[in-house]
Amino acid sequence: MSPTGWLITAATVALGAGLPYWLPRAVIALRVRIFAWVGGEEGIRAPGREVPAEEFKKVYGHPAANGRSRGAALSDLFWYWLSPGPEVHQEHLEPGPRYDDVARTTRQILAGLSREQWTELVGRCTRRVLDELPDDTRVHRVRLRDLMMPVWAEVYYEVVFRAPCPRSVRDLITGNANDVVSALKCTSLRHMDRRARLTAHLRDRLAHDPPPVPLPSSLSEREQAFYLQGTFFNTAVVQMSEAMAHLLLALATHRPVQDRLAAGEADPDFLDGVINETLQHFPLFGVAHRITSGEIPRDGRKPIPAGSVLLFNYPEYQGSGGDPFDPDRWLDPDTRPSAFIPFGVTANRPCPARGFAVLTMRVAAEETLRRFRLESSAEHTRSLPSRGPCLLVPRTGATEWTPARRRTRLAAMRLADRWEGVGRSVVQLVLGSYMVWDARRQGLCRNHFAASSGGSAPSVAAGR
Ligand code: HEM
Repeated sequence: MSPTGWLITAATVALGAGLPYWLPRAVIALRVRIFAWVGGEEGIRAPGREVPAEEFKKVYGHPAANGRSRGAALSDLFWYWLSPGPEVHQEHLEPGPRYDDVARTTRQILAGLSREQWTELVGRCTRRVLDELPDDTRVHRVRLRDLMMPVWAEVYYEVVFRAPCPRSVRDLITGNANDVVSALKCTSLRHMDRRARLTAHLRDRLAHDPPPVPLPSSLSEREQAFYLQGTFFNTAVVQMSEAMAHLLLALATHRPVQDRLAAGEADPDFLDGVINETLQHFPLFGVAHRITSGEIPRDGRKPIPAGSVLLFNYPEYQGSGGDPFDPDRWLDPDTRPSAFIPFGVTANRPCPARGFAVLTMRVAAEETLRRFRLESSAEHTRSLPSRGPCLLVPRTGATEWTPARRRTRLAAMRLADRWEGVGRSVVQLVLGSYMVWDARRQGLCRNHFAASSGGSAPSVAAGR
């Protein structure tokens, strides 16, 4: 071969070997630019030049930072992803009597269980779902988000209806939640038919056998079904499955941490430290936005005017991923990070599940660790579009791996994960750009408020 031929071959091999490392990141950067371009540049970044980190919580918690949907182009995109019924989703309702009614109902439903009942319920549902894995002595290749989703579908069905979740309904719930989160991560388009099947089931159920806690009286029967679907069978199921996928993947990729827990000799608060460290490194929210309803005055800076879109960036505020993964730092008040808001800020619509989400994660993690050793070499990013590839090695009955076998399996997994990431990033770019364009075209939020201020009925059929 000529020197030029060698050069071309060497360059091709180098490019081919390096491709999985750089392409997904380049596509993500391009996607962010396309999203900003299609969605329209808007917003004041916090932390950022106008709102430094020291003022982040003060501005987030200001009473005038209370607009949720109206007046932000971004809302069209969130409404599109959370359809059907985004106009009655608690996260996106404007402040007012309707919001109060909905938020009160959520609190009442969640307050129906004591800590002991939460522990029993989550333990039971986790065991049932893990029991469904075939042949207890085999190593299972799973995606952690998919593994966990049926657990939370069963848990939240029982929380709402106070009755065990039939298998067919569990499938409807996971079908709905999976469709929402896959569209949000741009790995798939929306499938409104899957979501509509759950709405139809809930409407039927509400007509014949409503839940014990009365649903918001300010909502129509159809909106009540949307409310349950949005808050419990979308947000609760998606957030808990994502949080658990992060936690279990963090354990799988930090074996010394996992081994300390499995040996049962760790400090009783160590698992809570691991959960906090996971939420510090991989906060579930990227950016939460608010629209200001009035001026926000500031010391020594120009006020933030009414009608501004504030973009609160969780990973940036928390400094996520900057430090090594160190759960022990949570055990000592002197080393605990102070910029930590996994469930939002108390003064401005924090997460209603903040009082027990960590408890329930702990129960599900303990059940899983009791039965399996977790092994993974997949890339762990905040958005985790891979759904967390992982090997579950049964703690009893499975043949012990030799170090060489372990190395080979993890190397094969790393390679497959990288190459899968390349193809997926291109899919995300194409589908994401389409959905941003489609959401803008449909203008679900924009049209809803235009219709309500014009006196005609708001478009409750949003997203169909
Ligand atoms: C570990 C799991 C979870 C995390 C990390 C989490 C995180 C958050 C955060 C950061 C917010 C505030 C966003 C903002 O300021 O705009 C929030 C709001 C919310 N979360 Fe969660 N969440 C979790 C689980 C849940 C569960 C299980 C439910 C349902 C039962 C839930 C329902 C909601 C609702 C309805 C809101 C909107 C609150 C409002 O605007 O009044 N979340 N969540």
